[in-house]
Amino acid sequence: MDFSINGSNPETARAGCVAVGVSSGGVLSAAASRVDRASKGRVASVLKGGDFDAKPGSVLMLYHLPGVTASRVLLVGCGKSGPLSAKDYRDIVRAAVRAVVEAGVTDAAFYLCELDLRDLSLQWAVHTAASVALETTYRFDRLKARKDRRAPALRRVLLGVSGGPSKTLDAALRSGVAVGEGVNLARELGNLPPNICTPGYLAQQAVALGRKHRLKVSVLGERQMKRLGMGALLSVARGSRQPPKLICIEHSGGRKGEEPIVLVGKGITFDTGGISLKPAAEMDEMKYDMSGAGSVLGTLKAVAQMKLPLNVVGVVPTTENMPGGNASRPGDIVESMSGQTIEILNTDAEGRLILCDALSYAERYRPAAVIDIATLTGACVIALGHVCSGLFANDDSLADELMAAGKASWDRAWRLPLWDDYQEQLKSNFADMANIGGRPAGSVTAACFLSRFAKNFKWAHLDIAGTAWRSGKEKGSTGRPVPLLTRFLMARAGW
Ligand code: BES
Ligand code: MN
Ligand code: ZN
Repeated sequence: MDFSINGSNPETARAGCVAVGVSSGGVLSAAASRVDRASKGRVASVLKGGDFDAKPGSVLMLYHLPGVTASRVLLVGCGKSGPLSAKDYRDIVRAAVRAVVEAGVTDAAFYLCELDLRDLSLQWAVHTAASVALETTYRFDRLKARKDRRAPALRRVLLGVSGGPSKTLDAALRSGVAVGEGVNLARELGNLPPNICTPGYLAQQAVALGRKHRLKVSVLGERQMKRLGMGALLSVARGSRQPPKLICIEHSGGRKGEEPIVLVGKGITFDTGGISLKPAAEMDEMKYDMSGAGSVLGTLKAVAQMKLPLNVVGVVPTTENMPGGNASRPGDIVESMSGQTIEILNTDAEGRLILCDALSYAERYRPAAVIDIATLTGACVIALGHVCSGLFANDDSLADELMAAGKASWDRAWRLPLWDDYQEQLKSNFADMANIGGRPAGSVTAACFLSRFAKNFKWAHLDIAGTAWRSGKEKGSTGRPVPLLTRFLMARAGW
């Protein structure tokens, strides 16, 4: 999809459809007023007829208005008049994009960036319009023999801004496109079935991403993991026929020698639970257990595309978690790369086992901060539902930055405690620690486990078990938390 910023007026814009905002009670946005005046009051008269209540996200398509160049005008409901929130604005743009896609429009002009946005800049509005438009037109149909008959025809999107393009708005547009494409990459990897999206496939995709965006990519195999002493990561891979990989991707946009931000993503391409086998219901959704890895690749794609002046490294430990004659047993004790030993009491608590060695590995980058992203615990879904990700950190200002980035990108997180009191639950009679902490505060004890491998750097952990995908009729990957992570990195880069 091609995006551009344009200072043209809605009534004379050359596009298949022009979208303008309308609030309830017949209150017209500036753009809607222009269309109304050009058409000698047609918009106002339609509203007076009561055909359109302007509820947020509702739309009404009008055809062939006199005095308007575009053959279609889309009225987009903005709810009660007054300043819009970030969420309102996103809903409005999404509704407009859905409607033009539904109508089969190939080029659309959106006059929505200058709606009344509370505390939110025009740059933010342009960035968000582009990313929301890309996310809304994403489809996963590559594995259907007969493709969805209505693949979006939308090719060109013009964002109407009265001042026209400028350096800052162009940058906002580019970053919005980058985030949208990063989110969609994460979604694609998540949605792919586990017989296609294997550890080897993820490694191939990382290499391809590196070639396209000039990122340095290296992939460690089993032999190198053994040499590094990654006994925890290797113990999870034992049951699988698929060889595990440790993928490292480097974006060097910052000064040479500047300490990087390291993103570590859980890449379990399928989680059966291992010998501690999961129940059958909804087990297919455990293909999404590599969503942390997908979000790291998506974020690196966005960062590279933006040419963000910052050093960023992605580290992705990836394997399947399968039962089998060679699989780890409950009771096995393994030695992690850090030298700490772990009693595996439940082979289904495998995420922390692959992440702990990846965290130890991250140390060699001398990181400014390490953030791991993982579909780590069902308990996080119980605690926070599907609204926000769980956030844990050993550093308050890092936690605050991530919270703020989540709010600005409407990809929110909520902080949970990492107090020492919880560490007791990980006590083992036979090893330095157990890999489970019992039922109480399952997300916290999982984070506490990881914290033992993150002592030497500033570290945060995002538990995305409830936010990485949707279940039910709308089943599919969300691409979260790519928006949060890119917003955080943009702020770090001074954007
Ligand atoms: N990948 C799962 C966590 C998960 C479960 C995410 C359901 C989303 C939905 C993880 O590997 C896991 O199985 N965790 C166990 C930990 C337990 C054995 C301590 C869990 O949450 O049940
Ligand atoms: Mn598991
Ligand atoms: Zn898992």
